[in-house]
Amino acid sequence: MTPGRRLLLLGGGGHAAVVADAAIAAGWLLIGFLDDSLEASVPGLERLGGIDEGPGILERRGGGILVHAAHGEGHVRESWLAAYPPDAATTIAHPTACISRTAQIADGAFIGPHAILNARAWIGRGAIINSAAVIEHDVTIGDFTHVAPGSVMGGGAAVGAHSLVGIGSVVLPRVKIGRRVTLGGGAVAAKDIADGVTACGVPARVRSRRT
Ligand SMILES: CC(C)(COP(=O)(O)OP(=O)(O)OC[C@H]1O[C@@H](n2cnc3c(N)ncnc32)[C@H](O)[C@@H]1OP(=O)(O)O)[C@@H](O)C(=O)NCCC(=O)NCCS
Repeated sequence: MTPGRRLLLLGGGGHAAVVADAAIAAGWLLIGFLDDSLEASVPGLERLGGIDEGPGILERRGGGILVHAAHGEGHVRESWLAAYPPDAATTIAHPTACISRTAQIADGAFIGPHAILNARAWIGRGAIINSAAVIEHDVTIGDFTHVAPGSVMGGGAAVGAHSLVGIGSVVLPRVKIGRRVTLGGGAVAAKDIADGVTACGVPARVRSRRT
């Protein structure tokens, strides 16, 4: 629990609503959310302005408020957090997540409900370990990567920065996935996957490369 710590949520979409639930369950006091769209909404929270207004709000309210970038796309989370000093971004972990005492989590990550992080897991800055994902021992997750709900990463596996491990997919033990990879939903990565590709299926095969 983090009783009474104040949080400004960046983003007002579906993922922000999930993060808000987790933060409230973990004891954070949410002062509101920011989103450029006037249509954005997070249940029970007030929209305090556009994304760029965060630093000014923190200054006016006199310190002690942390931020969390709540957006499914890693490059968006990275650009939003660039406006703040590194120690202003906090990790939010749902209280039902099971996190090893030897796991390490960099600032700004999100650990969803019922996620499991086993021994010596290493989670990068701004990464998302979404609902019920399993990160086995000695797994490395790169900065701003998203491990989608229900995915399983076997012991010693790794995924580089700015990748997506799609919903319900499996990465077999010790398999290495590169940077900026999209592993499709339901895939099984049985061999290493190079940087910058989309791979799908069982076993996962590369179907496109970034140009
Ligand atoms: C792999 C993925 C990126 C492809 O997206 P896309 O390029 O827009 O692909 P399309 O939806 O146009 O589908 C193209 C074809 O691939 C197939 N396909 C799409 N996703 C697939 C997947 N995960 N595994 C196998 N086949 C897939 C489609 O059925 C379609 O087949 P068809 O040409 O025979 O009709 C996407 O489908 C996916 O799996 N994204 C993961 C999303 C996710 O997990 N998000 C996290 C949410 S919290």
